[in-house]
Amino acid sequence: MTGKKLAEYRQLLAGKDAAEVLAWSLDEFGPQKVALASSFSTEDQVLSHMLSKISLSARIFTLDTGRQFQETYDVMQRSMDKFGLRYEVCAPAAEDLVALLADAGPNAMYQSLVKREACCAVRKLRPLEKIMQTIDAWICGLRRDQALTRKDLEIIEWDIQQGKYKISPLINWSEADVWRYIKDNGIPYNALYDQGFRSIGCAPCTRATGPDEDIRSGRWWWEEPEHKECGLHKR
Ligand code: ADX
Ligand code: SF4
Repeated sequence: MTGKKLAEYRQLLAGKDAAEVLAWSLDEFGPQKVALASSFSTEDQVLSHMLSKISLSARIFTLDTGRQFQETYDVMQRSMDKFGLRYEVCAPAAEDLVALLADAGPNAMYQSLVKREACCAVRKLRPLEKIMQTIDAWICGLRRDQALTRKDLEIIEWDIQQGKYKISPLINWSEADVWRYIKDNGIPYNALYDQGFRSIGCAPCTRATGPDEDIRSGRWWWEEPEHKECGLHKR
C-alpha cells in the first residue's frame, strides 16, 4: 500500500467529527485492517469508547511494555469489565528482553539517549512492527496541542516509518474537551491524572507535572525536548 489516496482522504474527512472519522476508517479499510493504538490515556479511552459504540469487535491493541504503572493496568481491567472491550496485547519478545537487561541493565534508560531508545525499541517498536504487518491503517489519540512536534499534525497522514495510514480523530480536541467527554460518559481513567500526571507512559520515564508546565514535560524529563518521542510518532 502507498499513500496515494492521502489528499482524497483529507478532503473526505474535513468537517467530520471524531466518531464519524472512526466509522469511516472501519468502512474504508475494513474492520480487520485498521486498529486503534491504546496506551489507556484519556484520549485513547475516548476513542475506545466511541469505537465500542460503533462495533465491539473493532480492533484495539496495546503495547504492554512490562514497565507500566499499576494504575494503567487498572484502567485496562476496568474498561474490559465495564464496556466489554477486548485488547490485542503486544508484548516484547522474551529473547529481546533478556538481551536488553543482560546488556545494559533495567534502568539504563537514564544513562544515555542510545540506551533509552534501545529500551523503547525492544518494548515498543518491535512489538508495534508485528501488529503493523496485519493492518493498512492505525488510529491514535494524538492532539495538536500536546506538543510543538504535533502542532501541524493532520487528521490523516502517511506514516512513512510504518508504511501505513495514520489517523488521529482528536487532533483538534483540547485537554478540556477530552476531560468533558470522559466525565460526561463515566469512562474509567488513570488515577494518576488526579495526582498531577498529564501524559502517562512507562513508570520509570513518567512523572507528575505542574499545572503551568508543558503537558509532556513529565515524560523523559531528563532529556532535551526534541528527543521526547519514543519513536512511535517520529515525523
Ligand atoms: S509517546 O510516543 O509519547 O509514548 P503518547 O503517550 O503521547 O505517545 O501517546 C500518543 C498516542 O500513541 C496514544 O494516544 C496511542 O494512540 C499511542 N500509544 C502510545 N503509547 C502506546 C502504547 N503503549 N500502546 C499502544 N498505543 C500507544
Ligand atoms: Fe523503556 Fe522508558 Fe521507553 Fe518504556 S518509555 S520502553 S521504560 S525507555
